Amino acid sequence: MNVRVLSCLLVASYSSIPTVSGFALTNNSPTYRPLQQQQQDSCHDGMASSKEDYDWLLEKSNSLNRRDFSKRVALVTTGGSMGWMSSSKGGSAAVAVAATKSAAAGSSVLLDSFSDAGKVDFPLASFGLQVYDDEKAYKLTLTALEVGYRNFFASVLARNQKGFARAVKDSGIDRKELFICGSVVSNRASGYKDAYSATTNGWKQNMDIFTKYGDIDYLDQIMLDYPGPDCESIRGQWAAFQDMHSQKLVKTLSVSNFSPDQLDCLLVNNDNLSVKPVVNQLPFSVAYHPSYPQGLNAQQIIKANADRGVLVQAWAPLGYSLGGKFTQQIKDVCAQIGKPYNKSYAQVALRWLVQTGASFTCQTTKKSHFIEDLDIYDFTLSPQDMDTLDKLYA
Ligand SMILES: NC(=O)c1ccc[n+]([C@@H]2O[C@H](COP(=O)([O-])OP(=O)(O)OC[C@H]3O[C@@H](n4cnc5c(N)ncnc54)[C@H](OP(=O)(O)O)[C@@H]3O)[C@@H](O)[C@H]2O)c1
Repeated sequence: MNVRVLSCLLVASYSSIPTVSGFALTNNSPTYRPLQQQQQDSCHDGMASSKEDYDWLLEKSNSLNRRDFSKRVALVTTGGSMGWMSSSKGGSAAVAVAATKSAAAGSSVLLDSFSDAGKVDFPLASFGLQVYDDEKAYKLTLTALEVGYRNFFASVLARNQKGFARAVKDSGIDRKELFICGSVVSNRASGYKDAYSATTNGWKQNMDIFTKYGDIDYLDQIMLDYPGPDCESIRGQWAAFQDMHSQKLVKTLSVSNFSPDQLDCLLVNNDNLSVKPVVNQLPFSVAYHPSYPQGLNAQQIIKANADRGVLVQAWAPLGYSLGGKFTQQIKDVCAQIGKPYNKSYAQVALRWLVQTGASFTCQTTKKSHFIEDLDIYDFTLSPQDMDTLDKLYA
């Protein structure tokens, strides 16, 4: 087995084996080789915002500080009109209470669908299923739904989309309340044509499973889990996603583990671009930042994505897939900062992400932790706290 295949398997496993090393190895593979610097053109939307956007944001963001607010403006001003907003109807009494909780001020942003559907409500906190069997996925999804999660990352790599889909169906919760993201892994295919057909097969497999086991006949998002080896391959992957979107099987399109240069493969000088990526899922936490490009601090990473109309969604926000990176020392600093707010280390680490301008996909096996991880919208870390947390990753 060569190094590249091994690294793909390590990362793909989503296991507690430190995927950072998987990442580093993958970075050395053609997948992450530096791409030619290309000029940015009018593909990128400006930052101008309508009064309606500001008013909506003000209402939504009233528990956030100014720093949050400016980031949020950047995220919701990519054009389009309001639409497809989630309703507040719950499927059961327990769920209805939780739904109110999940709609806390500042707990979601709008993503552009690049269609007549307009903007889509995207809860900042998502439950990202890890690798376990369908039965465990079923139970954990029901728990997450019960405590108020409405955003789900059901990756093909977790190998339990069936269990997840069954739980969605059995929960009885109105489909319109949920934001469901699937994923496709097609980064081994090289060249436009092969990447296009591998990605087409991938999204069709997602739809087959979601429909068969959960009566889920559209997705809110589909994520390209890794970029292909070069621009042409990436564009082939994306063309397949745009097909899915034009068939109204998915509302928004996203990527994962993309550098700014790889985003520019899609955004710059690409005549076939009709739907832009709105989310980039990256390994990102107080303890770890992506290594591409090297040397950017947290704010610069957020900005590099926001300048391209893309919201960062942190994976491993509490470090599980990053092995030892989330050290006890880092946990202790977060816990200390959390004391005056009566918040745990995990809540501080997640709140730091939100105040830095990111969203996150998190996982736990405990109901109490599910509840805790959603309960981060009623406090604001002070600028001094933020500076201390910013410096944890040096
Ligand atoms: N795109 C990619 O390449 C990629 C790669 C890796 C992962 N992912 C996605 O990202 C998701 C999350 O990342 P991750 O798996 O690394 O996990 P994570 O969310 O960073 O960490 C989860 C760990 O934190 C603990 N935890 C959660 N809430 C807690 C709380 N309130 N207090 C104390 N401990 C808490 C959990 O343990 P307990 O069970 O004890 O709570 C678990 O050990 C994955 O499930 C997967 O969907 C994507």
